[in-house]
Amino acid sequence: MDTSSPSTGEEVGGGDRDVVVKCRNLVCGYGDTAILEDINIDIYRGEIVTLLGGSGSGKSTLLKTLVGLLPPLGGTIEILGTDPHELNEHEHSRLLRRTGMMFQHGALFGSQTVYENISLPLREHTDVPEPVIEEMVRMKLALVGLRGLEHRMPSDISGGQRKRVALIRASILDPDIIFADEPSAGLDPIAAAGLDHVLRRFQDLFNMTMIVVTHELESIEILADRVVMLEDGEVVTSGSVDELRDSEIESVRNFFHRNAPDYLESGRGASVWTDMQS
Ligand SMILES: Nc1ncnc2c1ncn2[C@@H]1O[C@H](COP(=O)(O)OP(=O)(O)O)[C@@H](O)[C@H]1O
Ligand SMILES: [Mg+2]
Repeated sequence: MDTSSPSTGEEVGGGDRDVVVKCRNLVCGYGDTAILEDINIDIYRGEIVTLLGGSGSGKSTLLKTLVGLLPPLGGTIEILGTDPHELNEHEHSRLLRRTGMMFQHGALFGSQTVYENISLPLREHTDVPEPVIEEMVRMKLALVGLRGLEHRMPSDISGGQRKRVALIRASILDPDIIFADEPSAGLDPIAAAGLDHVLRRFQDLFNMTMIVVTHELESIEILADRVVMLEDGEVVTSGSVDELRDSEIESVRNFFHRNAPDYLESGRGASVWTDMQS
């Protein structure tokens, strides 16, 4: 751990803005095994934070813990002012309605049309009448350039289009926060950039807070108001892309300057680079 990093061990973030995700001394893991320790993060309303870290560094584990799907091994979490792990089932389901999730392998239901997939959360959690649901779905599809695809099956649209549909499904209840785990994984660079711009647009239009796991520098440059970097089980640094380009930590600086060979040789963060190649 580089103690010269101003944010290491301190809360990540600052200012008086509305904090929508807050964790203190959070320990995440499975059973007796801690994967991440002493995580302190503040995420502010309306910002897009990208989580960066090598394969197996605990990014998905952190997201699952934050949304309440995995119990923390220590420390505290507040999402929109409440601890998701202290809620009863009803309260937790209410909180989940205020957060949207795009999971890495969280595919659409293959046997349901685009329309049925998107309208599912509305049917499950609200009593919005069908004609209004139709209007909402139509409007959201138009917003991401998918006008008229309501009645297609997921197998009959492209990978990039499926991801946009998944984003609409995750955001159809107008959540305060979207958690997205490698949303552009598996897409070609052009489709990935397209999705990144759509995410950015959603943030601009709806002031949605987004926590996005990605290790593509191109995505980070489009998306990130702030980057939180995980390494060796902890937050190694955080800041804007410009700040991290000038980081005191050489491996971080190299990553943000696309200086892969040095990055690899330095040992630190080599896993991030390996990950980017896969
Ligand atoms: N269900 C699980 N039970 C035990 N260990 C797990 C489980 N899921 C993931 N892990 C371990 O936790 C570590 C972090 O995994 P993960 O959060 O998926 O990393 P990332 O998303 O950064 O690639 C890995 O070592 C992985 O093997
Ligand atoms: Mg993962």
